[in-house]
Amino acid sequence: MNTTYLTPQQIVKELDRYIIGQAEAKKNVAIALRNRWRRMNVKTDMQAEIMPNNILMIGATGVGKTEIARRLAKIADAPFVKVEASKFTEVGYVGRDVESMVRDLVSQAVLIVKSKKQEEVKEKAEQIVEEIILDALIPPMKSPPAIISTTSPEQEPRTDRELNEKTRERFREKIRNGELDNRKIDITIQQPANAGIGMFGGGMMDEASMINLQEMIGNMMPKKAKKRKVTIAEARKILLEEESARLIDMDEVKEEALAKAENSGIIFIDEIDKIAGAGKKGGGPDVSREGVQRDLLPIVEGSAVNTKFGMVKTDHVLFIAAGAFHVAKPSDLIPELQGRFPIRVELETLTEDDFYHILKEPRTALTKQYRALFESEEVELSFTDEALREIAATAFQINEEIENIGARRLSTVMSKLLNDFLFDVPEVIGPNAKISVTKEMVADKLAGMVKDKDLSQYIL
Ligand SMILES: Nc1ncnc2c1ncn2[C@@H]1O[C@H](COP(=O)(O)OP(=O)(O)OP(=O)(O)O)[C@@H](O)[C@H]1O
Ligand SMILES: [Mg+2]
Repeated sequence: MNTTYLTPQQIVKELDRYIIGQAEAKKNVAIALRNRWRRMNVKTDMQAEIMPNNILMIGATGVGKTEIARRLAKIADAPFVKVEASKFTEVGYVGRDVESMVRDLVSQAVLIVKSKKQEEVKEKAEQIVEEIILDALIPPMKSPPAIISTTSPEQEPRTDRELNEKTRERFREKIRNGELDNRKIDITIQQPANAGIGMFGGGMMDEASMINLQEMIGNMMPKKAKKRKVTIAEARKILLEEESARLIDMDEVKEEALAKAENSGIIFIDEIDKIAGAGKKGGGPDVSREGVQRDLLPIVEGSAVNTKFGMVKTDHVLFIAAGAFHVAKPSDLIPELQGRFPIRVELETLTEDDFYHILKEPRTALTKQYRALFESEEVELSFTDEALREIAATAFQINEEIENIGARRLSTVMSKLLNDFLFDVPEVIGPNAKISVTKEMVADKLAGMVKDKDLSQYIL
């Protein structure tokens, strides 16, 4: 899907296809996304001054925070990484340092730019590859000897040459339409020398310099050319990669990717509440949590980070953070970090009615997923509208009574409802059967879930 440069309203519309409700959050991420494009079209002196308005999404578990981020990534057509704050540790400790999110972003940008360039050179690379494969099958005739005897007419060599050309053309055709895909040929592959990776395991270096070093050593080692016997189909794949790599200017890719990451990169930091120091008592993990927040500050604020593709400035990277903030509150984050996320959006708690729509409408709605599963066995699954209402009501009630896990409850309820059917297909419920889930069926199957609290707590 190429939905480059959607307007805010179009972005919201696109998000609406997957996420029910949460209008505020959608609106804000849509504006932020569009603003990236707007900034790039601003007169240059002002451009550098316009900073992204980072967003903090606050909402209970299972109301769509991560889902919004995931869908946004697809829409953005920009380098996008999603990280979990709880995965990071302070610099100097074992674990991922926060700068790795920027390195990931750049790697992502490189991938995007590279595949775009690959697409551009694809045709040319394919031609070269075809020639290589053809040469392996029917080697072309060597150029004619320099001294051609003037006495004899050139009749003989020419026919040979013509014959060779003809055969080659015939085989070219066969290669093109895949007739020879299973034929084996010898190809020469440039093998990257395998440097002793893992030699520098110690904690003396940061990740970036370690990768740099490994790459440097890899480049220093002579590349080994290796002959391999492979099918033409395989050869095509291997050679295409090699040839398109040869046709692409990697320096250009790096440069473009760095610019792309700097100007349109988006970093989504999920579970940010997990690094907010909730209980202020004692040292323990809180020290390191606050450390991670402090490490985050310069990155969110704008600083230069060293990556294996070069320095990247984070000033204009858009950061979106999200957290449930069940225990910790946004105000438990260190003030400097709070200040870096000026836009706060609260996601609403989902209602019973929302549940009904979530079951039914999104493109990836659970009912659609299950329908597809049954369809694969040629069983038709359908739900009456009342049944969907009943499922929504049950899920909502369980959330109230036991624990509110938001829309995730729908998954547990649906699997409880449909598990017996899933088990009985195909032996008991054969192909071409129709299952219509009714309100009564739902009430019957799920009765135990609500009534017997202790038991359902155990089951769920
Ligand atoms: N508003 C919604 N519309 C459609 N589906 C939703 C919505 N909210 C949640 N879901 C579904 O519920 C599941 C959990 O949602 P999601 O991962 O976005 O929760 P979250 O808000 O990130 O929660 P947590 O704080 O636990 O990470 C997903 O499968 C998602 O598709
Ligand atoms: Mg989440």
